Amino acid sequence: MAADRPAETAPAPDRSRILVVDDAADAREVIQTQLEDRGFRVAACGSVEEALALLAATPFDLVITDLRMPRASGLELVRHVRTALPDTEIMIITGYPTIEGAVEAVKTGAEHYLAKPFTERELVEAVEAIIAKLARRRLAHAGPAADGAHGIIGASEPMQRVFRLIDRAGGTAATVLIEGESGTGKELVARAIHYAGERRGAPFVSVNCTAIPEHLIESELFGHIQGAFTGAVASRRGFFEMAGGGTLFLDEIGDASPAMQAKLLRAIQEKTIHKVGSSRPVRVDIRLICATNKDLPQLIDRGLFREDLYYRINVIDIPLPPLRERGDDLLLLVNHFRARYGRDLGRPAPSFSDETLRRLAAYHWPGNVRELENLVQRLVLLAEGERIEPTDLPATLRPALDLPRRLDRSLAEHEADYIRAVLASVGNNKTRAAAILGIDRKTLRDKLGRQG
Ligand SMILES: Nc1ncnc2c1ncn2[C@@H]1O[C@H](COP(=O)(O)OP(=O)(O)OP(=O)(O)O)[C@@H](O)[C@H]1O
Ligand SMILES: [Mg+2]
Repeated sequence: MAADRPAETAPAPDRSRILVVDDAADAREVIQTQLEDRGFRVAACGSVEEALALLAATPFDLVITDLRMPRASGLELVRHVRTALPDTEIMIITGYPTIEGAVEAVKTGAEHYLAKPFTERELVEAVEAIIAKLARRRLAHAGPAADGAHGIIGASEPMQRVFRLIDRAGGTAATVLIEGESGTGKELVARAIHYAGERRGAPFVSVNCTAIPEHLIESELFGHIQGAFTGAVASRRGFFEMAGGGTLFLDEIGDASPAMQAKLLRAIQEKTIHKVGSSRPVRVDIRLICATNKDLPQLIDRGLFREDLYYRINVIDIPLPPLRERGDDLLLLVNHFRARYGRDLGRPAPSFSDETLRRLAAYHWPGNVRELENLVQRLVLLAEGERIEPTDLPATLRPALDLPRRLDRSLAEHEADYIRAVLASVGNNKTRAAAILGIDRKTLRDKLGRQG
């Protein structure tokens, strides 16, 4: 299994093409070799003119160019790529890191900048990040479910941080641990990492650690050979093998049983598995992503989770913020789900009144995005009018009526106040008021009559 370190020799299923432009032959050869060692396909040339000719002939994913070269400057290339080649990224490298150069570069649209001298590691990390970002952008345009970046909606600062971590994780083969409350989008993030990386052409296999019965753990994870046990009529591949070359997503890892934890640890450490009924070890090449809504360090303290396994899976840690900490993302998500579920309606989707949105923003969302999605779906599909009002919301989100906290009044007086407040909140619509109060219209009329 290629977890825990960057993929070194594994050829990417769909290798990216890079063009290196530098008038110094030795410098461009070093870059070319270092990138070719990482599995990229690299062409190199010594001038802007040659680069333009090459770009006209072949598509490249990334152009890496020196800034100062005789005749035409690297900035010419930046301008050309930015205006004529929207699907190509460009990164400037320069031995003259001046403010003017950097400012010029930014103005022409080069977002990527690497100052010489740089190490092999700095180069490779920069290039991998750019390629991952490019893949993500292409997916966002082509992918079936991609509505925002990776199909994950979020403009808030904590979510921007998550997106940066996804990019970074996508560029490596390191094991990732995604931590977040229920419904925060852990599975969505796991898929985004898979599709942002070089393994996107290979399978993404999702395994819920709580869903495997104790006696089937080994056979489900590692597979079995024919006749290994009663009922093993044919040999079967396990999840590790199915994810070969791709990503294995271990969901709810905090709830894995002790036996399962032990078996996972061994497979991760040895990067090999044993099928049930076979003594032959099988090497597996997978990238591992784990997710949990549990506090693993706390489980470790209580002796419920293995510390050695924790250190194996917690190489890159992506904490997902709860929805209540994402500010205005809530409004973006409401719109997103409203549009999505509105499409099924066959009529314009109802809008949300300002007061309704305020109620939604004030709520604490224990079930996070999933809870919001379910609610918006229900509201949109069941709406009778064109606009969703606070009274359409379920009881937990319904307006809390401001009744005076007086203890010297009769139940009937309280009831009268309560009924008046509900009526006012629905614009005196008696049908709606009755629905909220949980009584029928006739009973409501009777009560109103008695109260005058
Ligand atoms: N930022 C987001 N943008 C759009 N949709 C989202 C976002 N976050 C979550 N969702 C949607 O919310 C639902 C729950 O997401 P997901 O299943 O990934 O959460 P989870 O953290 O794995 O939940 P659980 O802990 O319950 O397994 C999914 O339908 C997902 O598409
Ligand atoms: Mg999940």
